[in-house]
Amino acid sequence: MERVQKVIANNGYCSRRKAEELILKGKVKVNGEVIRELGTQVNNNDTIEVEGTVLSRQEKVYILMNKPRGCVTTTSDDKHRKTVVDLINLPIRVYPVGRLDYDTTGVLLLTNDGVLTNAMLHPSNNIEKIYIAKIKGTITGGHIRSLESGIVIDGKKTAKSKVKVLKVDRKSNTSIVEIMIHEGRNHQIKNMFSSLGYEVIKLRRESVAFLTCDGVAPGEYRFLTIKEVKMLYSLINNK
Ligand code: URA
Repeated sequence: MERVQKVIANNGYCSRRKAEELILKGKVKVNGEVIRELGTQVNNNDTIEVEGTVLSRQEKVYILMNKPRGCVTTTSDDKHRKTVVDLINLPIRVYPVGRLDYDTTGVLLLTNDGVLTNAMLHPSNNIEKIYIAKIKGTITGGHIRSLESGIVIDGKKTAKSKVKVLKVDRKSNTSIVEIMIHEGRNHQIKNMFSSLGYEVIKLRRESVAFLTCDGVAPGEYRFLTIKEVKMLYSLINNK
């Protein structure tokens, strides 16, 4: 048996102090009954509901994958293409945190922690993502400024980004550009470049927040450390 506020905090829903506030406000139910006692004890079979959300009591798993080219980031595909989940050999189901295109490579998080997933994807949390794009054409200074100040896609301007040109190869007429964004709109990087007339030939996500694929080969994955999970939570809880 454990105190309910500890279980809520360990689940990642919020801090223990916040859980105590929610209990006192009558926002926590155990097995369908509102509880207001901070000393309430629960076991693994009890259903805990916080502000209408039922907490999953399953062990939380956090994976960092170096996504290879040629797989989709959904959990199943109607065209029967390989999915990132097919690359993971685990008895627990995990889900990708956001999407990368079929041909995009690099950092992809997978987890069964819905609270973290929603927070990482919510634009208000401003999680930094760095991409490296190889594009057709030699990028101009004016276009770099446009990418940085925002591009209108589907009637909505993208938020400010930071751009570094890593290489311009006039012979092959290509450029390699690093771009840091906070949002995660569908095909955002490809659409930003294509609205300026550039085709993205290769796209790699270098990092999500402080996480990179260092030491993880394409198609391989590793578990996040407890410290890394705590650091992710501190990024989203500090906003
Ligand atoms: N932007 C894209 O265009 N594709 C991705 O896979 C990720 C970001």
